[in-house]
Amino acid sequence: MLDFEVIARERLERAFYDYYAGGAEDEITLAANRGAFAEVFLRPRVLVDVSRIETSTTLLGTSVSMPVLIAPTAFHRLAHPDGELATAKAAGGARTLMVASTIATYTLEEIARVATGPLWYQLYVYKDRSLARNLIQRAERAGYRALCLTVDTPCLGTRERDVRNRFTLPPGILMRNFEAAGFDVASLGDSFHSYARRQLDCSLTWDSVAWLRSETKLPILLKGIIAAEDATLAVQHGVDGVIVSNHGGRQLDGTEATLRALPRVVDAVQGRAEVLMDGGVRRGTDVLKALALGARAVLVGRPCLWGLAAAGEEGVGRVLEMFRQELTLAMALCGCPEIGAIDRSLIASD
Ligand code: FNR
Ligand code: LAC
Repeated sequence: MLDFEVIARERLERAFYDYYAGGAEDEITLAANRGAFAEVFLRPRVLVDVSRIETSTTLLGTSVSMPVLIAPTAFHRLAHPDGELATAKAAGGARTLMVASTIATYTLEEIARVATGPLWYQLYVYKDRSLARNLIQRAERAGYRALCLTVDTPCLGTRERDVRNRFTLPPGILMRNFEAAGFDVASLGDSFHSYARRQLDCSLTWDSVAWLRSETKLPILLKGIIAAEDATLAVQHGVDGVIVSNHGGRQLDGTEATLRALPRVVDAVQGRAEVLMDGGVRRGTDVLKALALGARAVLVGRPCLWGLAAAGEEGVGRVLEMFRQELTLAMALCGCPEIGAIDRSLIASD
């Protein structure tokens, strides 16, 4: 899997590679997300019939072939001209689910038209609520099956690689969902960072979740939960899913690694919502560890971007198939013939 990153680094303009790869400030959390998996060890069981391994599961009632989803990541056309269209087709080809970012370089409708599998829509609630309402209604009409509200981005973390590179979108690559919402994209700011400064609403509170709940009948997940107290509040506000995430280490540097935060969130939720996680997932064994610690599924961000940069739709498809093969092998070697057999007893305690 990591070989795809080597290819992507060779192929991508440095500023685009750095935008994808980078984390906030000293990238401590970026490294910690990955490092946390190396600190968790497994206790495989033996003499279990693993001649047939079943990786399929359901998420908010939607069947997927494996508990590995594509995380919402921005600007896929920086990696490949087919951008999010390629990613969506690869997700469908792997019979899993893509969460499409609001900050996409194709409209949510264009993505839905080519998608062959289920889609969720990732949303920010902006200062101008009419923009969020427009996006919600369009996502519902386009057949997205859930809304994923990102709650860890009241403002953008400082990605110092982007500062050094003076990262901005190249001509012709736009945040197309806003254009389709009738917003003058230029008014959103002449660069990604000025868009974020002008549009992101840092006054959001739990009332905003109640507002979103009133705006849609779709299931709602909150993405960016780390504190167990917030997981409890999320359930109390009627959300259907919680994604334990620190935005891939791109927001508050020094935030706890998601794998470490996961068990406390699972314990707080007490089965009242589905808990997913992302951050640093690169191996089938990582998926197994996250599920053993209570996640129903994981989302992967950067690995799909590396596959996209390396070989478009086919590249993303190969990354997803590598996750499937590695998870299947890890389950076999752990004595888990199906997803339901994966639990905390697999985790070696200190
Ligand atoms: C992201 N992420 C993100 N999250 C979100 O809710 N909306 C978004 O538009 C983006 N954009 C984005 C761009 C890039 C380049 C990256 C790397 C990440 C965060 C993403 O959904 C996810 O939380 C992390 O990427 C997961 O960590 P890994 O798998 O990349 O280590
Ligand atoms: C990022 C924003 C788009 O992480 O979420 O770059």
